[in-house]
Amino acid sequence: MILLLGGTSDIGTETVQRLCQGRTVVAAARRPEAVPDFPGAASRHVLPFDAADLTGHRRLVEEAERTAGEKVDIAVVAFGILGDQARAEADEAHAAEIATVDYTAQVSMLTVLADHMDSGDIVAFSSVAGWRARRANYVYGSTKAGLDAFCQGLSDRLHGTDLRLYVARPGFVIGSMTEGMTPAPMSVTPAQVAEAVVARVRAGRPGTFWVPGALRVLAGVMRLVPRPIWRHMPR
Ligand SMILES: NC(=O)c1ccc[n+]([C@@H]2O[C@H](COP(=O)([O-])OP(=O)(O)OC[C@H]3O[C@@H](n4cnc5c(N)ncnc54)[C@H](OP(=O)(O)O)[C@@H]3O)[C@@H](O)[C@H]2O)c1
Repeated sequence: MILLLGGTSDIGTETVQRLCQGRTVVAAARRPEAVPDFPGAASRHVLPFDAADLTGHRRLVEEAERTAGEKVDIAVVAFGILGDQARAEADEAHAAEIATVDYTAQVSMLTVLADHMDSGDIVAFSSVAGWRARRANYVYGSTKAGLDAFCQGLSDRLHGTDLRLYVARPGFVIGSMTEGMTPAPMSVTPAQVAEAVVARVRAGRPGTFWVPGALRVLAGVMRLVPRPIWRHMPR
């Protein structure tokens, strides 16, 4: 069974659309009514899910398996919020909300999945925003830096087991999360991120990867930009 956490995520749904042929899909979403169809899936189930309710994470995975009558063998952890950086600078509750959804809840859910699943594939989403914190989006960026580091350690823990962790590190993705924003250089679509994820999953090549791959070069340069200039970088 494929478990999609963040059942309306642009990237998550594009990824599951490509993996779901003949398989059971359980989508967990805070807006269950907005979860799309997954053409070709053997069956589709939807469960209500609030990522900020950390104590419900293990129960949700167990309920997904009960609902599907199958074990999870692919989990796509696609929930997340960009948040409002300007608001988060003055409103500590909003800053903590971003940290909770984009870091704490990811750590919690990935821990549940890695503990619960015996074998299969787990997909998580880091971001170029976590590569080097930017003044323009450091609250979100800091969560991705933490998540990226957590995933590196978790990948190493899973090395040699039957469980594989795939961590996509996209640049700017043109979709719901970035609606109204001017695309950055090397922007991609949710479909392109999904294609990259699915290619890695099908090839059985876990680990962390940039999307697009060429972003790796730009990322190298990003680390060299002097701080007085870096400080003025847009998000
Ligand atoms: N878009 C980008 O530029 C970009 C770049 C790099 C990495 N990423 C990462 O890729 C992942 C997927 O992003 P996306 O582009 O697919 O974003 P998206 O289309 O905005 O989807 C985000 C999903 O998270 C769900 N969500 C948010 N808060 C939640 C909560 N408290 N409980 C349950 N679900 C919650 C949303 O539900 P609702 O529909 O109810 O809001 C939505 O399903 C995220 O981790 C994101 O940080 C995105």
